[in-house]
Amino acid sequence: MTVTEDAPVGEIATLNVTIRIKRMNPEGTPARAPGESYWEEFHVEAHATDRVLDALHTIKWQEDGSLTFRRSCAHGVCGSDAMRINAKNRLACKALLKDLNPSRPITVEPIAGLPVVKDLVVDMEPFFASYREIMPFLVTTGHAPTRERLQSPEDRAKFDDTTKCILCAACTTACPVFWTDGQYFGPQAIVGAHRFIFDSRDEGQWDRLEILNDKAGVWKCRTAFNCTEACPRGIEVTKAISEVKRALTTGEF
Ligand code: SF4
Ligand code: F3S
Ligand code: FES
Repeated sequence: MTVTEDAPVGEIATLNVTIRIKRMNPEGTPARAPGESYWEEFHVEAHATDRVLDALHTIKWQEDGSLTFRRSCAHGVCGSDAMRINAKNRLACKALLKDLNPSRPITVEPIAGLPVVKDLVVDMEPFFASYREIMPFLVTTGHAPTRERLQSPEDRAKFDDTTKCILCAACTTACPVFWTDGQYFGPQAIVGAHRFIFDSRDEGQWDRLEILNDKAGVWKCRTAFNCTEACPRGIEVTKAISEVKRALTTGEF
């Protein structure tokens, strides 16, 4: 890394960083067999305040247009650019280069436990299939209301944390049980269920709890906490999972 230490006031220091990317082309390249994964290094000049996403854009736009990754909002809202950066799941649009020890190569890999489609893009379908399982929508019976469904601030607070989920999959793909078990719904599906189980307006709690009491559900969790550490929204994922376990054993929520 070269830092321009004497940058004039108002100017941002620049870095020369090495980005080491795990790549895979399902069709192969002149030098690689189809589906073979390999590491490739790129050298990028960047501002200290740039994010990994900026560096990936520079590589794609100036060096190798075939580099493939997902992103949309670029501001930590859409959840589409979760990647394994320096061995930790993060959003590329929120990971600042200066915070990643840029004197050494910064490694970027696809999130683990889902099939790689190309380079940093994984097949999210198994992840969304688990999310659909837990019925992520308000379940009510009776006539449609003629006014809003009221809720006290205290009742709203019970599930405030889990409403913040952006479906990025950083939690689920950081979970060792999800990597090895092959059946576990994963922490995000439980977060998604928690958001409705603890909503006083919802009437589908017991259906969701029954789904999560299944062999693919909450009892697979071994309290590894990787999910909580990985969540870019700061959601207390492990706590939400323990609250669902308690609801199953006490019947209280
Ligand atoms: Fe992403 Fe956090 Fe939602 Fe998991 S709980 S999908 S890490 S926002
Ligand atoms: Fe996995 Fe999180 Fe439980 S990492 S084992 S879901 S606490
Ligand atoms: Fe939307 Fe990063 S691009 S969260």
